[in-house]
Amino acid sequence: MTRRVRGDPTRAARALRSPVARSRRLELRLPDLAFAPELVRLLNDPTIARWTMSVPYPYRRSDALRWYRRWRSAQRTGRSLRFLLVRRSDGALLGGAGLHDIDPEHLRAEIGYWVGRPFRGQGYAQEAVLTICRLAFRRLRLRRVEAGIFPGNVRSARVLRATGFRLEGTMRKTVRKHGISRDVELYARLSDDPPGPARARRAPRRGSSAAPTR
Ligand SMILES: CC(C)(COP(=O)(O)OP(=O)(O)OC[C@H]1O[C@@H](n2cnc3c(N)ncnc32)[C@H](O)[C@@H]1OP(=O)(O)O)[C@@H](O)C(=O)NCCC(=O)NCCS
Repeated sequence: MTRRVRGDPTRAARALRSPVARSRRLELRLPDLAFAPELVRLLNDPTIARWTMSVPYPYRRSDALRWYRRWRSAQRTGRSLRFLLVRRSDGALLGGAGLHDIDPEHLRAEIGYWVGRPFRGQGYAQEAVLTICRLAFRRLRLRRVEAGIFPGNVRSARVLRATGFRLEGTMRKTVRKHGISRDVELYARLSDDPPGPARARRAPRRGSSAAPTR
């Protein structure tokens, strides 16, 4: 495991080595072309192309190779961390996730993720988002992680709400995809936000002086 490099997220990002982090069921590994065939099989999915900014459909081996080359040069800057989500029990590739635009001055970054169709609905995206947030806040010492989703991506919004992100608003026509300007909903979680959905405060019971619990 790598040392924690305090106070400099760019240096810390450079220092991270594979496997970068583990959770109960997942290992977050740096991209590896040994997974290219599975990567192509899972990413060749119109749902992923629909809800992400730049994943094409159909998705071919040449797209995986281009993505890998881009990752290699982005990784050198320390401003981007990309991971493959690998199941610990059997080594299966489940999806991908990462931090982009890691900003060491303002201590913020943007999170992105996808899970292959056969593996959805089992909590893997939530587990990956929680693990990456832990890495962002504890190891990179970031203050804020943002996520931008296209309006209507209900599954992704649920993942974010379940992992402590809050909707801050809609950035109108902020990106162009296939030549069309699109709105993006901005979610964010701060390092001291709880890692789960904000629950309504319970009213104190009559006659009780205890403070309401969260
Ligand atoms: C959005 C996306 C990443 C969600 O992935 P996922 O792995 O299905 O998400 P999760 O399984 O973590 O969460 C989905 C549900 O599974 C439930 N779940 C099932 N088993 C679970 C378990 N063992 N632990 C926790 N949650 C579990 C969760 O509660 C959640 O249900 P809810 O939505 O009713 O609350 C996936 O649909 C995807 O890749 N979409 C296309 C790409 C995309 O949209 N990426 C995001 C761009 S911003």
